[in-house]
Amino acid sequence: MREIIRAENLWKVYPDGTKALKGVNVSVRRGEFVGIMGPSGSGKSTFLHIVGGLDKPTDGDVLLFGERVSSMSEDELTQFRKGRVAYIFQFYYLLEDFNVLENLLIIADLLGIGNAEEKALEILDFLRLSHRLRHKPYQLSGGEQQRVAIGRALISEPDLILADEPTGNIDWEEGRKIFQLFRELNEKKGITFVVATHNPDLVKFFHRTVHLKDGQVVS
Ligand SMILES: Nc1ncnc2c1ncn2[C@@H]1O[C@H](COP(=O)(O)OP(=O)(O)OP(=O)(O)O)[C@@H](O)[C@H]1O
Ligand SMILES: [Mg+2]
Repeated sequence: MREIIRAENLWKVYPDGTKALKGVNVSVRRGEFVGIMGPSGSGKSTFLHIVGGLDKPTDGDVLLFGERVSSMSEDELTQFRKGRVAYIFQFYYLLEDFNVLENLLIIADLLGIGNAEEKALEILDFLRLSHRLRHKPYQLSGGEQQRVAIGRALISEPDLILADEPTGNIDWEEGRKIFQLFRELNEKKGITFVVATHNPDLVKFFHRTVHLKDGQVVS
């Protein structure tokens, strides 16, 4: 299965009448590292939410790993996404009452992943967080919190990572390191990435960039 995402004529009209996506067609193949760029309000988050199954399109369809998402029930979709698709947000959404290691272990437990502690420690070492295992999110810098969020995505061993402005809240140098990390995961583990950003300095990291404007793909 080479095509991992196929968005077919996606439309999203929000209840207030805002047309956020107007017939978007995008195809992503396994192993690609794709950027979604466009000005604020162009539909990047809406697109990622729909592709990740967090929201439904008004019209059109998404095929993930060759399967039509619209034909699945909520439960089927959750099961289907488990361990295949992970999401990284701009505002980390970590569990504030739990430490770094626990933030990964709780996800591993929910997903029924074996050898979780060993895997979590290995991932946190790779993410340069071994010295912060027992710290809680409020005790970490923005970059460190985002690395925990990446760790939480990695513990599920996904084939596809969708990231929405993952470096939107951190400084340029730390942001660049996170993109290098993504590239490494893409190259070494074959994880496919689709990353939304409006930072043009990050374009050089992508294999290919899809440009959105007013809810449409522009070339
Ligand atoms: N729940 C909602 N209800 C109504 N309109 C919405 C909703 N969510 C987003 N929109 C609108 O849809 C359009 C696309 O929004 P979206 O968040 O997808 O843009 P974006 O490209 O991610 O922007 P940014 O770079 O600021 O994150 C915007 O006009 C936005 O105001
Ligand atoms: Mg957005």
